[in-house]
Amino acid sequence: MSNNRASFTPSRRKFLMTTASSAAGPVIARAFTGEARAQSAPRNQREPVGVRLEVNGHVQDLSLDVRTTLLDALREHLGLTGSKKGCDQGQCGACTVLVDGRRVLGCLTLAASVDGRSITTIEGLTSPGQELHPMQQAFVDQDAFQCGYCTSGQIMSAIGCVHEGHAENDADIREYMSGNLCRCAAYPNIVAAIKQAKAATQSRLASKET
Ligand code: FES
Ligand code: FES
Repeated sequence: MSNNRASFTPSRRKFLMTTASSAAGPVIARAFTGEARAQSAPRNQREPVGVRLEVNGHVQDLSLDVRTTLLDALREHLGLTGSKKGCDQGQCGACTVLVDGRRVLGCLTLAASVDGRSITTIEGLTSPGQELHPMQQAFVDQDAFQCGYCTSGQIMSAIGCVHEGHAENDADIREYMSGNLCRCAAYPNIVAAIKQAKAATQSRLASKET
């Protein structure tokens, strides 16, 4: 009885050999198809990718390493150095720009991820010879900067803050501007500037200006 049973019970070795060969079959077959070759051919990660950005109203076609951040695309490839690199890790807000009117951190945004989108930087708020944007003027009027390193990020963030409807009172402004650090501690003046420019910024938004 025990001998018969043994003859119908596959050994562990036989079982593994059978399952391994049946699993490998389709893989080997696929390996000879063009599809498998195409899938297995690794994309050269160093090859540049084409990225089209509309920056301050001008279409820019760039060829970038896929890992390029929006901040580096603006500063290093387009020469727009108004957006500052403070921490380069999403902590300080100095790199804030607007993408389709909403504020983003340029250092944490891959340029390729905003392909085809509209970008506004501090340079795009006014053309040469034009008046300052109301938010820029308010920062001047309220003495809302000292060294100025954080200021372009503060102004772009302040415009985004107003656009989002988060500038209803001082506490609101402080909360929604808390991602923008100022080592010179101009915070009370920044709040005052945002309050000064709020109405004018809203009316520009209504007229489709930044
Ligand atoms: S440089 Fe982007 S958050 Fe500091
Ligand atoms: S004005 Fe100097 S860091 Fe803000």
